[in-house]
Amino acid sequence: MTPRLAVEKVGLAFGGVAALSGVSLTVAPGEIRGIIGPNGAGKTTLLNAICGIVPPTTGRVRLDGKDVTGLSPSAIAARGLRRTFQTSALFPGLTVLENVVTGLHTATRAGLLDCAFGSRRLREEEREAAARARRVLEFVGMAGFAERPAGALSFGQQRLVEIARALVSDPAVVLLDEPAVGLSLNRLADIDRLLRRIRDERGVTLLLIEHVIRLVMEVSDSITVLSSGTVIAEGTPDAVRQDPAVITAYLGTAVHA
Ligand SMILES: Nc1ncnc2c1ncn2[C@@H]1O[C@H](COP(=O)(O)OP(=O)(O)OP(=O)(O)O)[C@@H](O)[C@H]1O
Ligand SMILES: [Mg+2]
Repeated sequence: MTPRLAVEKVGLAFGGVAALSGVSLTVAPGEIRGIIGPNGAGKTTLLNAICGIVPPTTGRVRLDGKDVTGLSPSAIAARGLRRTFQTSALFPGLTVLENVVTGLHTATRAGLLDCAFGSRRLREEEREAAARARRVLEFVGMAGFAERPAGALSFGQQRLVEIARALVSDPAVVLLDEPAVGLSLNRLADIDRLLRRIRDERGVTLLLIEHVIRLVMEVSDSITVLSSGTVIAEGTPDAVRQDPAVITAYLGTAVHA
């Protein structure tokens, strides 16, 4: 089967310093893949390389077998790949609903002329966009907050809105950069359930960067471990947990937490 997402020998250097070298991984349709590794291992850089924010220096990225390397982030998004960010990237002054609608930006068809003349097509698209945003807010359990300014929400609520924004265009693949960061332990089960529902009910393939090892071990089908910009282990959560190279990279602490 063609992998939904394939990363082939990707390398990326910042001013001559390699942040990623020879990173390869393939993710099957409907898989939840965890990405773990110590601080500075290159996890966020890998996401940036996949979604086109910082194109790889070497190697290829494919979606459903099609080469997307070097395409702009919006072109890659239009091919069905969305992401969330490690730190909140919502517009604090816009409402929750408006923030989610921005996730449809590359998916709406109305052109510049439609905008200039406030055409009927534009108004219809706006209505449809708001309806889609409300449905996805319902899905993540945030429908009651639609009219609030995003900046007024708690940190955990903002993370849910970011996930809604990533989902609103019905992407095939979503990359999540530490969705559980800053959440209290009793919220972890909610995130766990939400990630499974995103896969099971919406058919989304997930790439999950996470420092909360308990969550990533629970929810992932398989895990790729990065350290110093290279893949040091890959396999089922149980196999990875016992891998000596992984234990060394974490100094034998975090993986058992
Ligand atoms: N824009 C940049 N310019 C220069 N160096 C960068 C840039 N972005 C990342 N790096 C470097 O690349 C390496 C990998 O960073 P990255 O943010 O991908 O790590 P990470 O695994 O996501 O870490 P964390 O767990 O702390 O989020 C680090 O050494 C970092 O300093
Ligand atoms: Mg990071």
